[in-house]
Amino acid sequence: MFRHQAHRYSRVTIALHWLTLLVIVGAYVFIQLHEAFPKGSEARALMKTRHFTLGLLVLPLLLGRLVAYFTGGRAPAIEPPPPRWTSGLRLGMHWALYAFLLAMPLLGWAALSAGGKELPFGLPALLSPEEDLYRTLKRAHETLGQLGLPLIGLHAAASLVHHYAWRDDALRRMLPGRRRVPGAP
Ligand code: HEM
Ligand code: HEM
Repeated sequence: MFRHQAHRYSRVTIALHWLTLLVIVGAYVFIQLHEAFPKGSEARALMKTRHFTLGLLVLPLLLGRLVAYFTGGRAPAIEPPPPRWTSGLRLGMHWALYAFLLAMPLLGWAALSAGGKELPFGLPALLSPEEDLYRTLKRAHETLGQLGLPLIGLHAAASLVHHYAWRDDALRRMLPGRRRVPGAP
């Protein structure tokens, strides 16, 4: 379950990868939706709470992914092998995404703490309330949140280039279920 197969990531890695995508999409959707409701309304607060809850879920998912990363063994090789210059970029992108998954929830949590706001799941405050710090952390969280979209977009686009242009199995290695057909692109 944890070990990668020859031509596919481990089940745990695959499940956590796509679950993380769902949770992240939900976090973006709810924070966008909150703008649609008037300030002070219950619906606006509810959208924000959903954003916080989903955002915080990223942390246990990330922990699981890191365990899966370090216990999975070597990542399955891509076949046919893509150009050599892509391997550094791939690794850099993966670690940038992991850093994003760690930084976003922590910045959000720290911002809410500095703002003296209520935290979901009865979590403890990371900092004592301070207005300036609250604004700085919130801005950092929002800026990184905006940078995250092109980062994820590039990552997804790269997997499509692998699949459709280079016709290798980079994407299929991250998809559940289907057996690899020998000789298929
Ligand atoms: C990976 C997880 C997360 C992502 C991708 C994310 C992304 C975002 C984005 C895109 C925004 C809006 C930026 C804008 O308006 O320009 C935002 C706002 C915010 N997020 Fe997150 N976030 C995440 C997790 C969290 C968590 C865990 C918390 C707190 C527990 C949090 C607290 C906030 C707060 C307080 C705001 C400002 C909302 C307001 O306008 O009052 N976020 N986040
Ligand atoms: C939008 C749809 C997405 C697609 C089509 C996609 C596709 C893929 C594919 C094909 C791989 C395997 C790549 C390889 O072995 O080089 C992969 C790995 C990875 N993806 Fe995604 N992904 C998506 C969204 C995301 C999101 C939202 C995140 C996190 C913010 C993410 C983080 C990662 C990480 C960290 C890896 C490396 C996995 C490992 O080696 O443990 N992906 N993705």
